[in-house]
Amino acid sequence: MSFAPKILNWYHEHQRDLPWRQTRDPYRVWLSEIILQQTRVAQGMPYYYNFVEAFPTVFDLANAPEEQVLKLWQGLGYYSRARNLHATAKMVVTEFDGNFPQTYDGLKSLKGVGDYTASAIASFCFDVAEPVVDGNVYRVLSRYFGVDIPINSTEGIKYFKELAREVMDSENIRDYNQGIMEFGAIQCAPKKPYCLLCPLQESCVALKENKVDVLPIKLNKTKVRNRYFNYLVWLDGDKNTVLEQRRGKGIWQNLYQFPLIETDSAIGDGEFEEKMETDHKLAKIESLSLYNNEPIVHKLSHQHLHTQFWILKTSHILEEGIPWKKIDDFPVPVLIADFIKTFKI
Ligand code: ADE
Ligand code: SF4
Repeated sequence: MSFAPKILNWYHEHQRDLPWRQTRDPYRVWLSEIILQQTRVAQGMPYYYNFVEAFPTVFDLANAPEEQVLKLWQGLGYYSRARNLHATAKMVVTEFDGNFPQTYDGLKSLKGVGDYTASAIASFCFDVAEPVVDGNVYRVLSRYFGVDIPINSTEGIKYFKELAREVMDSENIRDYNQGIMEFGAIQCAPKKPYCLLCPLQESCVALKENKVDVLPIKLNKTKVRNRYFNYLVWLDGDKNTVLEQRRGKGIWQNLYQFPLIETDSAIGDGEFEEKMETDHKLAKIESLSLYNNEPIVHKLSHQHLHTQFWILKTSHILEEGIPWKKIDDFPVPVLIADFIKTFKI
């Protein structure tokens, strides 16, 4: 037996009785899918019932005051979902006379409806042969077919959607789509899949190759944090400057650097002068200039440091200054070392 019939057989025996599976009303299916986007079934269920009761039709939801929608949503988190939900209900009423579009493309044009949700509504309500690909589906397909392409890479997203389309059952798309998701949620679960009792075990590549634990592969996409550094390069009449040691946790622990002002974005002369004034240091400054017109972007693994060096000349003798010619004695980050190399005092 090939893949799809096994999924369908399993689903007919094991499916949970969930309220949104007993309807083909696109409004209710859409509502359930938006609620379940970042929420588990058990947590989402009472919200689904509350919404359906308060707003039995898309007209009721569209006409409701925003506070009521947000109030009912309270506790689910990601409140932009609730505002999108409300906006989309209004859009369905004003642009489609209250009738949800019946095609994948039409559904996808709605706010908050992406590839997964459009495929889900189109297949569950209108029998459109479009495969759903959610986290459950990625897991089942990657394990059963032994695919190690990262599921969150551009290549992976394309590959799995195509694979999903190849193996789906177009004639029974509603149950097939529900079935593969349910199979991923219950049988081929993330942590402890029940491989020993699995009807797919004989042809499951991951099981045969002992890769169940490592699939699916997901790239660690940690977000890059942008930071804006302003280094104060002080110079007095005796050719002294100031260095400070970095304390505490974080990057460059215990290395030396010029005094640092961190800002929320790259700043210009005016803003910088203002900042210095509030620090009561401007009185002592003879001249102030920006060494590099374009910020130097220093890239660390999870941070991009947009750096500006400000040259501050003063006629006062810097109390805690060090002679510039001793500057090479101090351990400094490469970013500072590169500056020191090129800067002519
Ligand atoms: N999670 C998201 N959509 C779902 C659905 N239609 N059935 C069960 N769980 C889901
Ligand atoms: Fe998933 Fe295990 Fe079944 Fe393979 S044998 S499909 S890994 S539950």
